[in-house]
Amino acid sequence: MQIITDLAAGVLRLQINRPEKKNALSLAMYDDMASALQDADRDPKVRVVLIHGHPDVFSAGNDLQDFVSSPPAGEDSPVARFITAISTATKPIVAAVAGPAVGIGTTMLLHCDLVYAAADTRFQTPFVNLGLLPEAGSSLLLPALIGYRRAAELLMLGEPFSAETALRCGLVTEVVTDGDAALNAAKAAAGKLAAKPPAALRLTKKLMKQTGAEAVSQQIRAETDRFVEQLHSPEAGEALKAFFEKRPPNFAQFT
Ligand code: COA
Repeated sequence: MQIITDLAAGVLRLQINRPEKKNALSLAMYDDMASALQDADRDPKVRVVLIHGHPDVFSAGNDLQDFVSSPPAGEDSPVARFITAISTATKPIVAAVAGPAVGIGTTMLLHCDLVYAAADTRFQTPFVNLGLLPEAGSSLLLPALIGYRRAAELLMLGEPFSAETALRCGLVTEVVTDGDAALNAAKAAAGKLAAKPPAALRLTKKLMKQTGAEAVSQQIRAETDRFVEQLHSPEAGEALKAFFEKRPPNFAQFT
C-alpha cells in the first residue's frame, strides 16, 4: 500500500509510503489521497487529517516518470483532484515532514493548517529547473505568505531550503529534532484538535480562508492549464531526460 490510511480517535492518518522512490507521488497515489481527503470531509467520524511520510523522507514530489508516460491532462487528472481536495478541505489538516519535501511535497503544505518539520527537512520548489511551473496555488500563496522577493527566490532559483528558513517564512509551525519527533508533535497537535468542538474548528478554518478561496481556486485552474502545456515543451523534455540520465540539463538552445 503506497498510501496508508488509518482512523483512530477522530484523526485520519494518511501516510505516503513509497520509500524506495523517496515517496514520489504516482497517479494512483494522488487518486488515493484525493479520495481519502474527500471521504474525510464527508465522514463525521473524521475530525482532523494527519499527513506524513517517513522519518527520513516526506515526498520527492510528483513522480517524474509519470510526467513522461502519463502527463496530467487537466482538471480531471489525479493530481488536479488531489489539489482540489486538499485546497478545499473543510477540516483541519496537520502535516509532519522530514528529509526531502520537493515540489508538491512543499506546495501541499500551503494548504495544511499546522506543519511540524524535522530539522533535516530539505524543502524545494524546483519547477522552473524542470522546465515546469508552480502548482497547487503556490504562485499565489507563496508570495502572499512570504512576499514577492523571497517567493521569487524559491520559485525561480528553485534551490533547496532548510527547515529553519521554512520556519522564518511561516511555511511551518515548528521545527523539531528529527522525523520521529515531527510525527509525534503532529500527532499531539492532531489529538488536541480532534478533541475540540468540530463545528467551531471548521468555521474558524472557513473564516480564515474564505476571503482568498476563490482567488486560490482560479489560480490553481490557471496553473493547471499552463502546467499541462509547459510539460509538453522541449524545455521540460530536456529537464526530465536529464534527470533520468543522471546528468545536468542543458537549456542553452532554447529561446
Ligand atoms: N520521481 C520519480 N522517481 C524519483 C523521484 C521522482 N520525483 N525522486 C526520486 N526518485 C527515485 C530516483 O530516480 C531513484 O530511483 P532508482 O533507485 O530507481 O534510481 C530513487 O527514487 C532514489 O532517489 P535518489 O535520487 O537516488 O535519492 P537521493 O537521496 O540521492 O535524492 C532527492 C533525493 C529527492 C533529492 C532526489 O531524488 C530528487 O531530486 N528527486 C527529484 C525531485 C523532483 O524534482 N521532484 C519533482 C518536483 S515537480
